[in-house]
Amino acid sequence: MCGIVGYIGSREAYPIIITGLKRQEYRGYDSTGVALINHGLKVFKKKGKVAELEEYLLGKNLSASVGIGHTRWATHGEPSDRNAHPHQSASGKLAMIHNGIIENYNQLKQELLNKGYTFNSETDTEVLLNFIEEIQKNNQCSLEEALRIALKRVTGAYVILLLDEGNPDTIIAARKGSPLVIGIGKDEHFLGSDATPMLEYTKEVVYVNDYEIAIVKANELVLKNLGNEGQTPYITKLDVELAAIEKGGFEHFMLKEIFEQPGTIYDCLRGRLDATAGTITMSGVQNNIDTLKNANRIIIVACGTSWHAGLLAEYIIEELCRTPVEVEYASEFRYRNPIINKGDVIIAISQSGETADTLVAIEKAKEQGAIIFGIVNVVGSSIARASHAGAYTHAGPEIGVASTKAFTAQLVVLTMIALKVAKEKESITPERYSKLLFELGDIPEKAGALLKRAEELKIIGEKYKGAADALYLGRGYNFPVALEGALKLKEISYIHAEGYPAAEMKHGPIALVDDKLPVVFVATKDDYHNKIVSNIQEIKARKGKVIAIITDGDESITSMADDVFAVPPADEIVSPMLSVIPLQLLSYYIGVAKGCDVDKPRNLAKSVTVE
Ligand code: AGP
Repeated sequence: MCGIVGYIGSREAYPIIITGLKRQEYRGYDSTGVALINHGLKVFKKKGKVAELEEYLLGKNLSASVGIGHTRWATHGEPSDRNAHPHQSASGKLAMIHNGIIENYNQLKQELLNKGYTFNSETDTEVLLNFIEEIQKNNQCSLEEALRIALKRVTGAYVILLLDEGNPDTIIAARKGSPLVIGIGKDEHFLGSDATPMLEYTKEVVYVNDYEIAIVKANELVLKNLGNEGQTPYITKLDVELAAIEKGGFEHFMLKEIFEQPGTIYDCLRGRLDATAGTITMSGVQNNIDTLKNANRIIIVACGTSWHAGLLAEYIIEELCRTPVEVEYASEFRYRNPIINKGDVIIAISQSGETADTLVAIEKAKEQGAIIFGIVNVVGSSIARASHAGAYTHAGPEIGVASTKAFTAQLVVLTMIALKVAKEKESITPERYSKLLFELGDIPEKAGALLKRAEELKIIGEKYKGAADALYLGRGYNFPVALEGALKLKEISYIHAEGYPAAEMKHGPIALVDDKLPVVFVATKDDYHNKIVSNIQEIKARKGKVIAIITDGDESITSMADDVFAVPPADEIVSPMLSVIPLQLLSYYIGVAKGCDVDKPRNLAKSVTVE
């Protein structure tokens, strides 16, 4: 979960790399470093964020037109200067940065120790680098050849960028499992874990595939596989603007992305939903409609917030399509030896499209012949390319580590898929189908309306910022929303929070309730409303502090709760797209009130590319 950046061309590399690293910092930020080639190899690295490295490098000669940079999320070796990347080889002539995990690094390290090598760090990266150099020395071969040989001995995930003092006009890169994008410029190339470091320079990129090596010069890009066969670079044109990855006047990316939701939900519906015509146009679904319609079972695999979207999809698909659905934590699914039968369809949900657990889970399912349908936000990402078919969520770049706009866009896509399949299966009445299309079409405006009252949540947040714990409760479609609300509060404010089906409370969690425990109810109007009202009474009877997300005009709960936030009325199937937004804002305001780094919460990173 690190960020890597590289540049080779005629411009000054350092400023491009530093700006790129700042844009990659959402991937990891416990130490950073750069390596530059200018009359020799120069490596600078430091524990801490990019800004601290910049400070440390003030006044140093950083002029160079070739360089690589790294921002780290520690896996092997604690955050420190010596474990920071780039690492230098024993000869000092090679420098390397790495995103991923070399699983068999201990074995390789032992081989090198037996040859008298010593190590400056605790990282798997330094081991791999010296392993490559050892092969180069032993075989008297090129660095590229040594890398090819070394990678055949490596297990795990990696993107590596290599600089060689003896070959200053080349960056060598390799990829397996972790993401690598190469930007094509005029007599220059840019490298990154995603396209954010290169957006203002080029819109033409190549997504490097697994087991590919890239030999990058200023005016040449060569791709080869580990068998030394040339691969044709497939150039993709990016349709994202720099502005999309800047804060746009908001204090934090998280707040900007929360307020972007009326627009991103609209973008997700645009060109797909036509409520008047009664149509949903999604080519990925249409081209696979028989597979989806005749699916014996749908298995959803995902992690974190995407898993919560999957849980909501289970409720929606089972109700509308009458197809059995199972929702699996990807990390458990891949090791559990799951039973996958003919006719099963896997839906993989991921914002980043790079989450290792989800990627490996679908590879596992593919081995057993399953059809993979991907729902992904990042265009061209690994999960998108590993899926047989899919749909993008079009939420734009999501920089804040806490997923917000991608979650509501995932709900929109999952609901449209369920409606399209239900119509095909005739498992929904034409009236219900049409009503839900119009309900979906109204969401952007309703989201805009409730965001106008965000300040109300700032006040509620201020009131509960001192809480040590919190409970989030909901029933039916609101249960997954409660889980998501609890996750947001944990991620952003470090307050321990748990989401539960409201009725489950009586089977244990109610023991936690006292006059200091805030209990957040997702209590918008639905078939369970009377039940949730009595659950609120049970909490109030034990002096719990009740914060309730209610439907506009619902007096029944307003009189009981300590604090309420009303969302516009909507059908229970689409109302989670609205009721989650105040929970996103509540966690944001509490996090800010507590002085937390809401865009880069401790111990977290945006895409988890290692298991
Ligand atoms: C959510 O706010 C977190 N960032 C995290 O739980 C995230 O949802 C999870 O890591 C899955 O990421 P993905 O959607 O990119 O696969």
